Amino acid sequence: MSKPITDFDVNNLDPLQALIWQFEMGADEAIADEPLDRFKASESLSRQAAGQPGRASLPPNGGAAARPAMPRPAGGATPMTPPPMPPGAGFLLSDTPHEARQSARDLAAAATNLADLKEAVEKFEGCALKKSASNTVFGVGNPEARLVLVGEAPGAEEDRQGEPFVGPSGKLLDAMLRSIGFAREEVYITNILPWRPPGNRQPTTAEIAVCEPFVRRHLELIGPKVVICLGGSAAKTLMEEDRGITRLRGTWKEMALGAASVADVTAMFHPAYLLRTPEQKRMAWRDLRAVAQKLS
Ligand code: URA
Repeated sequence: MSKPITDFDVNNLDPLQALIWQFEMGADEAIADEPLDRFKASESLSRQAAGQPGRASLPPNGGAAARPAMPRPAGGATPMTPPPMPPGAGFLLSDTPHEARQSARDLAAAATNLADLKEAVEKFEGCALKKSASNTVFGVGNPEARLVLVGEAPGAEEDRQGEPFVGPSGKLLDAMLRSIGFAREEVYITNILPWRPPGNRQPTTAEIAVCEPFVRRHLELIGPKVVICLGGSAAKTLMEEDRGITRLRGTWKEMALGAASVADVTAMFHPAYLLRTPEQKRMAWRDLRAVAQKLS
């Protein structure tokens, strides 16, 4: 394991250390083929604001380049600690969370099948996670499944492949499903968020609120009998509860799927948590058996 890097060290790193530091801060993916010098973009913006011509232009809506320019230390060394972002910046491109959520609601409601919904999600610009993600991870499996599993958000491997639960926690999920007699292809798997939060950080409340209409419409269009929320984010969102996963797992609620149908929804520990905490697998086994019973 690399030694922790302190603020003092940060401006004196060799290139390998700098790379490790970026990785530890969550910058673990290249999101474009060419590097983009955001300092130049900020300088150009300042020049334009001062009425001087500038070469680089900013992308529409500003994005990260609209954040305050990083202070340059004396001597011209590149600063490596970014300034704090203004509240609300960074995850919504143009709208307030309320407007973005309303726009997601309208788009979701207009989708009458999964293909339309996928297209609507792929075109949606109200959540900035899309900007840093490599792929939109929509969902996979049987569109008429009786069992749907909903995770939190794609991880690195899911972001690369554009499919939910294909990394290490996906392998465990497949084994858990097999243990109650289901092949992955028989169920449907999706996430609360269709884009990977950088560095697998926890999604913000605003990101979840904005994307929630899509996952709810997803469930309406499939119409399953049972929905399993994998982990706390999915459970709190879909079960509309403040309690944590330790209290919610194993409990059941009814969830309206549009005007006409209802699903039984429950929660389990997330497979990633079970990989880190194998002693909890027996609780997961108990929860899976309850699901199998509900479906039988
Ligand atoms: N974790 C999730 O919550 N979802 C995925 O798709 C992968 C890992």
